[in-house]
Amino acid sequence: MDPSEDVMRRMLMAAPDALLAVKGDGEIVFANTYAELLFGWTNDELVGEKVELLVPGAAFDDYVAHRAGFVADPRTRPFGAGMQLSARRKDGDTFPAEISLNDVSDDLGERVVLAAVRDISDRIELEADRQRRELLAQQERSGRFESLGQLAGGIAHDFNNVLGVILNYATLLGRRITDPMDAADLQEIHSAAERARELTRKLTSFASRDVTDPQPLEVNSVVRQTMSTLEETFDESIEIELDLAPDTLMTVADRQQLEQIIVNLAVNARDALPDGGCLTITTAPLRSLPPHGDGGQLHTDVVLRVVDDGIGMPPEVLRRAFEPFFSTKPRGQGAGLGLASVHGIVLQNDGSVTIDSTAEEGTTVTVVLPGIEDVAPVVDPRAFEKVPDG
Ligand SMILES: Nc1ncnc2c1ncn2[C@@H]1O[C@H](COP(=O)(O)OP(=O)(O)OP(=O)(O)O)[C@@H](O)[C@H]1O
Ligand SMILES: [Mg+2]
Repeated sequence: MDPSEDVMRRMLMAAPDALLAVKGDGEIVFANTYAELLFGWTNDELVGEKVELLVPGAAFDDYVAHRAGFVADPRTRPFGAGMQLSARRKDGDTFPAEISLNDVSDDLGERVVLAAVRDISDRIELEADRQRRELLAQQERSGRFESLGQLAGGIAHDFNNVLGVILNYATLLGRRITDPMDAADLQEIHSAAERARELTRKLTSFASRDVTDPQPLEVNSVVRQTMSTLEETFDESIEIELDLAPDTLMTVADRQQLEQIIVNLAVNARDALPDGGCLTITTAPLRSLPPHGDGGQLHTDVVLRVVDDGIGMPPEVLRRAFEPFFSTKPRGQGAGLGLASVHGIVLQNDGSVTIDSTAEEGTTVTVVLPGIEDVAPVVDPRAFEKVPDG
């Protein structure tokens, strides 16, 4: 049974979205109850008026152009998809709106469009709120990392001096010792002090206390060189694959720091592959359009990815992975500073680092470093518009 016209009308009236039927010339021929509520005009006031009544002045031209486009090609679709639309109430207030259009032209060829309008202030507010909270959490985290870094850096520096003394005297003593048992014990002292020194090195670099020497670097060649040294220390069961972009990828950074990023990530991947597996390092350009007025140059950043198909991280580990001194490795094996250092170095270089990881499937760490501006300017299409005659 087809619902009668009257039932259809009452259904539209009761719909929980603002519905307006608009003729091709913009005249409103129908408005439901929700439209009255949303816009503050009564049904009588709306019907017969031009729909432009509900469009804020600033958006007017856009709106008219869009409507002409729709009338010329009346398919069901969201209106102005991707645009920030707004609508105006009777009291002059504007609100962000989502509008979708349906062609409901009648059999006689009179063009009628049904517009469903939704106030999306809440949604926008929620999204803004979420972004604010994320930013705050990020700032808090960075602040915490920084003060931890300062503390760690200070301790590491003093500690390193003490270790220097221990190592010195151990070396001096080693020259006088003749008993092999004593020599073996002394060797233990020596190597423990060396391990401690390695730890302080990690601490200082996490605290970014190292003196840096930023210079233009070709990322692919740094990856190749670092990995060829590191490869020898990895077990054969780990297959290392380099999938490097054919492009020349340049960034400005301290060479040792870039090497350290690669080593820390590769070593983590190795540790995640106790039974062997695949470690892949990829590089790629990340081209972004220039911000307005930037002379039409494309900007190229550098993406460096370290991927393993190892043990991966459960969510509670992933959440804390960048935290300084957070480690799931047995005592004495992990200082929990590898990713914290990578994080510190990358931020120092105005880059970003993110981790994707799934337990038992593997991990991808993505580092983006600012590239050196592409030299070739993009052809500006406006240059072709005003070709002078003759
Ligand atoms: N590729 C990876 N796969 C699985 N887990 C990882 C991976 N990389 C890091 N993790 C997890 O994140 C933790 C922190 O890593 P991070 O490199 O900061 O410290 P660490 O490796 O434990 O110690 P350090 O690097 O100082 O020797 C690790 O203990 C591990 O649990
Ligand atoms: Mg590590």
